[in-house]
Amino acid sequence: MTTPVRVTFEDTDIEKIAEADGRVAVIVTPDGKLDTAARRVNRLTKGALKRLTDSDTWGKVKSGELRTLAWPVGMKAEALDVLCLDRGAKQAETRRAGVALARAKSGKELLVLAGSVRRPADLALGMALRCYRFTEHKTDKGRDVEGAVRVMTAKPDEAEAAFAPLAAVAEGVIYARDLITEPANHLTTTEFANRIKDMEKLGLKVTVLEEEAMCKLRMGALLSVGHGSASPSKLAIMEWRGGADTAAPLALVGKGVVFDTGGISLKPAAGMEDMTMDMGGAGVVCGAMHAIAKRKAKANVVGLVGLVENMPSDRATRPGDVITSMKGDTIEVINTDAEGRLVLADVLWYAQETFKPAGIVDLATLTGAMIIALGHEKAGVFSNDDTLCNAFLKAAEAEDEAAWRMPLAQAYDDMLKSDIADMKNIGGRPAGSITAAQFIQRFVKDGVPWIHLDIAGVTSVKSETRYAPKGASGWGVMALNRLVADMFEKD
Ligand code: BES
Ligand code: MN
Ligand code: ZN
Repeated sequence: MTTPVRVTFEDTDIEKIAEADGRVAVIVTPDGKLDTAARRVNRLTKGALKRLTDSDTWGKVKSGELRTLAWPVGMKAEALDVLCLDRGAKQAETRRAGVALARAKSGKELLVLAGSVRRPADLALGMALRCYRFTEHKTDKGRDVEGAVRVMTAKPDEAEAAFAPLAAVAEGVIYARDLITEPANHLTTTEFANRIKDMEKLGLKVTVLEEEAMCKLRMGALLSVGHGSASPSKLAIMEWRGGADTAAPLALVGKGVVFDTGGISLKPAAGMEDMTMDMGGAGVVCGAMHAIAKRKAKANVVGLVGLVENMPSDRATRPGDVITSMKGDTIEVINTDAEGRLVLADVLWYAQETFKPAGIVDLATLTGAMIIALGHEKAGVFSNDDTLCNAFLKAAEAEDEAAWRMPLAQAYDDMLKSDIADMKNIGGRPAGSITAAQFIQRFVKDGVPWIHLDIAGVTSVKSETRYAPKGASGWGVMALNRLVADMFEKD
C-alpha cells in the first residue's frame, strides 16, 4: 500500500522556524491577525508577511486559500505559504485548507505553524488525503518521495490523539485509491483476493469463495459475468466484529469488476482503459473495512465483494442467454455490458442469506448514465428506507463527500420485463441508472433497509477533486466510516 505522508505534531518553538528545510506554512486570519509564530515569521522576513496581509491582495484571499512568498529572506525555507483560515473554521473548511497546503507542498518537507488552528487534526487529514501519489509502476521511485509534515500546535498530544482515528480513515481512503488505480494485469481477481486476505493482519476475518463453491450456491448471475475470462471469479468476505455478539451487522457490498471490456457487447476502444476502475465499489468497501478495523470500531460490519473480469471469449455469456441467479430468478442477458448488476444480485442475496444484516449499502461503478445525470460531482443514492438513507446522506455531508438521492418507482421496475425470463438485465436508454437500481432492488428482501450508491462518476476523475489529486478519489470510505460510527458507536 502507498504509505500516507508522515504527519507529526510538536510544541510551537519559534526558534526552529528560521532553520526549517523545505517549506514553511503560516496561518493568518482573513482580517490579518498574526499569532506569535506569524509575528516571528514577519520579523524574520523583515515585514514581508505583514506587507502581504496588509495589501489589497489579502482582501481577496478567501478562508482556505493561500498565497506563497518564494525564497523568503531571513529563512532557510524555499517558500513561505501564507494560509488564510477563519478562527472558527469548521471541520470541512479546515480539511480543505489542509488540501490547499498539500497542493502547494509539491512533495517538499513542510513545517506548519498551526498554533492558532482549532482543528489541527483535520488540517492534517486534508494534507494526508491530498498528498497522494501512486508510484508503484514508476521505476524511479526515489525521486518522488513525499517530504514529511511537522505541525506546530498548542497541544500536540491532543492533536495527535484526535488525528489517530482520522489517520486510520486516511489509510482506508489510500488503500481504496491504490486498488482503484492498479491496472487490471496487476490487480487480477486472484491478486485482489490475496490483498484482501492480507487484511487479516488488521483483525478482520476473511473468507474467499472460489468458483466451485459459488457453483454449489447456484450463483449463476455472478458466474455468468466471469465465464469469458481466464481469471477465476471470486467472492471475498471481510468480517469485523467489534460490536455486541448478537447485534446484526451492517453489510457493505461492492462491485469488483477488475476490468470491464463489455464482454460480447464489447465497448468501443476509446476510453476503455478507464474500465480498470470498474472494481471501485469493491475498492471502497475494502477501504472502509480497512478504516473500521484499523480504528477498532465498536460495530459489526461485514464487507462482501464480487471479483470478476468481464471478457469476450468463446466461453463468454452471449446477448440473449438466460441465466439463473442464486435467488432463483431467471435473467435474460440483453447486453453483456450491463454486468455489474448481475454480480451484485448474487452477492446481495448471499449477504442476506448468510448474515441477516441490519442494513445493506452496495457500491458500484454501475452506469454511464449516472455520469450523465450528476457528472463527477455527486454520487447517486437510491434507497428503500428513508431512515437509513437520511443517515447516510447526513454522514456523507459531514464528511464532505457529495451525494444526491435519486428516485425508485414501480414504473421503472416495469421496464425490466422480459418475454422469456423473469427479467432482462437492461431497461433501455431512459433512466438508465434508475432501472439499474431497480434491477438490484429485486434482490433485496422485503423489510431489509438498503442503499445503492452508483459511484460511476466519482470513483476516478480526470481532474482533481476535493480531497484527491486527479485519478482515484476513494469517494465513500469516509462517509461509510462515519455511517458506521453514527449507527453503532454513539452511547
Ligand atoms: N462499468 C460500466 C459503467 C461505467 C461507465 C462506469 C463509465 C464508469 C464509467 C457498466 O458496467 C456499464 O457498462 N454500463 C452500461 C449499461 C448499459 C449497457 C445498460 C452503460 O452505462 O453504458
Ligand atoms: Mn459494463
Ligand atoms: Zn461495469
